[in-house]
Amino acid sequence: MTNLSAQTILLPFPGNTVAGVALGNQLGVSPQRLELHAFPDGETLVRLPNELTGRNVLLLCSLDHLDSKLLPLLFAADAAREQGARQVGLVAPYLGYMRQDSRFHSGEAVSAHTVAAVLDRHVDFLVTVDPHLHRIHSLSELYRIPTRTVSAMPAIVDWLRHEVRQPLLIGPDRESAQWVAAAAAELDAPYLVLDKIRHGDNAVEIVMPELAGWIGHTPVLLDDILSTAQTMITAVRQLKQHGLPDPVCVAVHPILVGDALSGLLAAGAARVVSCNTIAQPSNAIDVMPLMAAAVKTLCH
Ligand code: R5P
Repeated sequence: MTNLSAQTILLPFPGNTVAGVALGNQLGVSPQRLELHAFPDGETLVRLPNELTGRNVLLLCSLDHLDSKLLPLLFAADAAREQGARQVGLVAPYLGYMRQDSRFHSGEAVSAHTVAAVLDRHVDFLVTVDPHLHRIHSLSELYRIPTRTVSAMPAIVDWLRHEVRQPLLIGPDRESAQWVAAAAAELDAPYLVLDKIRHGDNAVEIVMPELAGWIGHTPVLLDDILSTAQTMITAVRQLKQHGLPDPVCVAVHPILVGDALSGLLAAGAARVVSCNTIAQPSNAIDVMPLMAAAVKTLCH
């Protein structure tokens, strides 16, 4: 293992402490404390450790709920540079706002562009896991800084290989086809991609094909993001009407807003498992070794 400890300062943001330990172990770096103080008026004071001169500073911050995280992140990046950091890298296991990648209706902001333009100006590189690339095909379309897109699929495939007998992989919508096809090829397993129509934030409709040929298989719903979980809840409910075992639900990024996790289990999921890109009780798949390998390619 390359030991970066002498040159590198790893600063996990609040909510990223567990990931910080896991990533730090992989990098041979002990996470240090980043202090955030919330003033009564809602403004935030960011304080970094001393002695950043000449060091690589890694800001570890998963960018779910980004509206409240973005300014403190920019403050930290600028402060690190002002205090002599050689490089300021952003390690964002989840990169938010990538679903707002187009002006779907007149007047709407294309937020993926704005977020990228801001981050691009404040950090020297970005490492993330499976960003929601759909209408944007690569992060290089958005960023001028070096970026690394880590695929969680090797870790997910490894988990499925050990935990699920005779899987039938199912992508709940067209956008999930890329992940489901990749995992199915590695597992030499069959897969299906469903058609989803979204009617609103909490209302989706899914068209389920005939499944009689798959009796005996374990359905595995695989998607990049679990947010409200309505996509998977709808798919689980329909799958249960087809005589297959209760589905296993796997997601790369468990945003899991509100009671999404309990709702998905109540709908009939046998298990809900996720990668540790966002701290959640469903996390069972460790992507930090993959992230660490990508970080090492960018640290001078
Ligand atoms: C969208 O295309 C994504 O791949 C997910 O399917 C979606 O974000 C899931 O959202 P929710 O859990 O709110 O249904």
